[in-house]
Amino acid sequence: MMARIGRRGVLELGLALTVGGCGGGSTGTPAPAPAPAPAPSPPTPPVTGLDAIAASRNMRFGSTVGGTRNPAVSSFGSTDYRALLVAQCGLIVPENELKWQTLSPTPDVLDFSAADDMLAFATENGLAMRGHNIIWHQNRWLPQWLASHDFGADKEAGTRALISDHVTAVIGHYGSSIRSWDVINEAVDPATGNLYSTVLSDNLGSAEAVIDLAFTTARAAAPPGTQLVYNDYPGWEHGNDAHRAGVLKLLTGMKARGVPIDAFGVQSHLGIGSIDPATGTGPYDQSGWRSFLDAVVALGLDLLVTELDVRDDALPSDIAKRDQGVANYTRAYLDLMFGYPQLRDVLVWGMVDSFSWLQREEQRTDGLPARPNPYDAGFKAKPMRQSIADAFTATAARAKEAR
Ligand code: G3I
Repeated sequence: MMARIGRRGVLELGLALTVGGCGGGSTGTPAPAPAPAPAPSPPTPPVTGLDAIAASRNMRFGSTVGGTRNPAVSSFGSTDYRALLVAQCGLIVPENELKWQTLSPTPDVLDFSAADDMLAFATENGLAMRGHNIIWHQNRWLPQWLASHDFGADKEAGTRALISDHVTAVIGHYGSSIRSWDVINEAVDPATGNLYSTVLSDNLGSAEAVIDLAFTTARAAAPPGTQLVYNDYPGWEHGNDAHRAGVLKLLTGMKARGVPIDAFGVQSHLGIGSIDPATGTGPYDQSGWRSFLDAVVALGLDLLVTELDVRDDALPSDIAKRDQGVANYTRAYLDLMFGYPQLRDVLVWGMVDSFSWLQREEQRTDGLPARPNPYDAGFKAKPMRQSIADAFTATAARAKEAR
């Protein structure tokens, strides 16, 4: 019976023959022992998705996704992007598809189809979806037909009815399939800290009346336990004092009036507008930012990071230096934010650079494309992704609650 020589045996035999030569030519000295076969390299461990790391801390990671199913222009149309969402996220948020001006391009239309497609994708893939946003309280971002809308003989009553109907229709359409809503977005003027005036606030007498009505209606329309959020972008960078003060005044007033609000959505569109020589990346107002967040959570509000991305205008053109500067800034920011146990959900405003709104909105002086997201245009993970992963790994686990 032929001895069965395994792969290793054949290798050894082969080596012996080679070293000792084939037949004849023996020198009489024993052939040296064959070199051991190289140990098989360990299998590459699967890259643990960002949401899986977050989940180990009873937190969640997610991203926005936008656009029609047109691959040329939108992330939702990209099969690679959707695959990345499934691999890395536990939560998505429509970039534009739930905004009032998108749902209702004309007064008689309320078209949920694009957002419904996203919810179907999320549900099929075990992802949650959050809602953004029901009322963006600036005339520029409200449906344009409001400017010429006939609110009826009693403008106040007509406006209250319009607001209530919209909030109830949107939240009612999704019911328990969306468990967190940006009810009001960006109502505070960052330059002054004052609330913006809109056609709605003009008719109701104050912006607070619009905001209070929206949240009160949302609470009545939403299933119990739905998280109602005020979402805005005061930042940790220097120069955000008025914006922070205005947001804190709004939130404090809402709580004092008994308005049902559960959380503050910290958009987190970070900007490296200059370089701190001590860190090699952007400066930030750590004490001022902590004081602001301390005051917000003292109101009994939770926190979310809702739209994280990083403009890196002041970093050099060199890609490796840019990406590392962004990663360092992201890590410093998340380490500070994760110090708040009230923070569980972290969403980036896009996973892949090439789909970022910043490609259209903010140009670097060197004209190079923005690099604000965790993955580059080739869907390659950047140091920013590692910073997010490391920040989740480094933080304490939150008390367990339904995800
Ligand atoms: O879909 C239309 C397309 O049919 C049309 O040809 C094209 C040109 O007019 O416009 C397209 O709509 C654009 C939409 O993005 C989809 O691409 C709108 O003009 C454009 O204003 C809109 O910009 C969005 C912006 O909010 C305003 O809604 C950005 O994608 C979106 O990233 C940005 O996100 C906001 C958050 O909602 C709130 N926080 C700030 C954040 C960044 O600005």
